[in-house]
Amino acid sequence: MSDTRAKKILHVVGARPNFMKVAPVMKAVAKHPGRLQQVLVHTGQHYDYQMSALFFEELEIPEPDYNLGIGSDSHGAQTGRMLIETETILLQERPDWVVVYGDTNSALAGALAAAKLHIPVAHVEAGLRSFDRTMPEEVNRIVTDQVASLLFTPSRDGDQNLLHEGISKEKIEFVGNVMIDTLAQALTREERLSYTTAPGTEGLLEQLNGRQYVLTTLHRPSNVDDPRALSDIVSALGDISAKVPVIFPVHPRTQKRMQEMSLREWPSEFRLLEPLGYFDFLALMRKAAAVVTDSGGIQEETTYLGIPCLTVRPNTERPVTITHGTNALVSSHPEVLLSAIEAALRRQRSGTPAVRPELWDGRASQRIVDVLLRMD
Ligand code: UD1
Repeated sequence: MSDTRAKKILHVVGARPNFMKVAPVMKAVAKHPGRLQQVLVHTGQHYDYQMSALFFEELEIPEPDYNLGIGSDSHGAQTGRMLIETETILLQERPDWVVVYGDTNSALAGALAAAKLHIPVAHVEAGLRSFDRTMPEEVNRIVTDQVASLLFTPSRDGDQNLLHEGISKEKIEFVGNVMIDTLAQALTREERLSYTTAPGTEGLLEQLNGRQYVLTTLHRPSNVDDPRALSDIVSALGDISAKVPVIFPVHPRTQKRMQEMSLREWPSEFRLLEPLGYFDFLALMRKAAAVVTDSGGIQEETTYLGIPCLTVRPNTERPVTITHGTNALVSSHPEVLLSAIEAALRRQRSGTPAVRPELWDGRASQRIVDVLLRMD
């Protein structure tokens, strides 16, 4: 039975990168059953098994109390429907805090619905800025941070960005990176990281054992919705695969775009896979010679692991991955990208980095819960 005096925390998640962030926070909240209780709302932004339920199973996230089943649509329609449905739940549940994660449409909708009802919002991964408002995520970050009452930042640059936008110092809490909490925990499961389970990946780690290979992911609209950019990137990856295997788990958005394009035949070492679960992906990432991506989270994970990362974007909202990590920005121009990958493959991989960004230590979610406990 839940204690009626316990503070009620309502988490709103919906898309794949939200799940590895909510998992450690929910575990940390669950350690205080008398003082905190929690409700989980899944908007259903991501709904394929490999984009959602698989992560709940692997990261032992409790079944959502509510699944809104929103699914895909234009940004306005998707966010609007999330807003309507979340408001109904908030009126029913009357939580003390709504906690939202990252920069997805689900985070924006959760934050807006709560703020309109005067329910305080805590934003995990606050303050990150690419300064590029053509990215849907940048708009989500700015608006979410403006309506939040507590802003949990993963790096000091986040604090600076928020202060520059006029957010008061008292609302900002530098806690570190919750995504790294999940990663650090997963890395203790050596046995689970010695194989992959997804259909089509049986024996893959054994085949790759001792070989250099490139792991890649792409899903940003700026790369995959623009046929020229997508074919440039894929062509550079295809060329590299003549030398070393390229492992490419394909995001559904990217899969659709690739089906629409007439792309050339792939060399056999260009391995297109379905989206992978957390452990399969990590098993491949930690042994990769280089990672080519446009993901936010993977820039952070490769920094923690000490693996060279090439981010195919003109900017990043995660500058510590460049100043303290292994990340470099690279253009999608095929020759530039190709030579950047070749250079990364020539460099000896350093493995575990000497220095990791401050407070990326596996305890960020505990710090978040400590703050929530001391709030009125
Ligand atoms: C979203 C987030 C992005 C995050 C990414 C990680 C926003 C604005 N973007 O982008 O920040 O990095 O998730 O994956 O919130 N689809 C499926 N099955 C699914 C989910 C999506 O087929 O389970 C398809 C949809 O039909 C849609 C496309 O993928 O066409 C994009 O989905 P959407 O949620 O709009 O954005 P993402 O590109 O995944």
